[in-house]
Amino acid sequence: MKREIVAIYPGSFDPVTNGHLDIISRGRSIFDRVVVAVSVNQEKTPLFSLDERVQMLRNATTGWDNVDVDRFEGLLVNYAADRGASVILRGIRAVTDFDYEFQMALMNRRLQGKLETVFLVPAEKYTYLSSSLVKEVASLGGSVEGLVPAEVLQKLQLKLKTG
Ligand code: PNS
Repeated sequence: MKREIVAIYPGSFDPVTNGHLDIISRGRSIFDRVVVAVSVNQEKTPLFSLDERVQMLRNATTGWDNVDVDRFEGLLVNYAADRGASVILRGIRAVTDFDYEFQMALMNRRLQGKLETVFLVPAEKYTYLSSSLVKEVASLGGSVEGLVPAEVLQKLQLKLKTG
């Protein structure tokens, strides 16, 4: 029987953007399964709680039958082993992402040599997009319509209104 290739797409997703969804969509057409894994460990305080981030991702990926959304704590390589994944999927937007991504990929390889990191490039229109920029623009009253799913847009407005 053919072995299923599972890719883990890890991140903070605070909040999910259309750029993340673009990568998930590309990933699910290449791999048998994509597990979107929201990191519990956070150095900085997130705007959205872990439950909110997971729920927004679940709602945004409804109907994508080979995509799961989960949370993980501790080392990514251990979580990948638990899920039977052989690939770590990451999106890369510009050279500025490269140093950090390269470091993580090599550290993860040192920790677990059989796990391959695969980088995908999002659609050009999302190459400048990041969750931090979305939060900054939204908090200053700018429009982020078209850059995040409708539910995220609504939740951002609520969150930033109520503080
Ligand atoms: O969206 P982000 O913040 O760039 O995602 C970073 C993330 C969650 C992928 C990274 O911090 C991570 O893998 N954390 C889990 C802990 C771990 O395994 N650290 C070593 C990575 S080399």
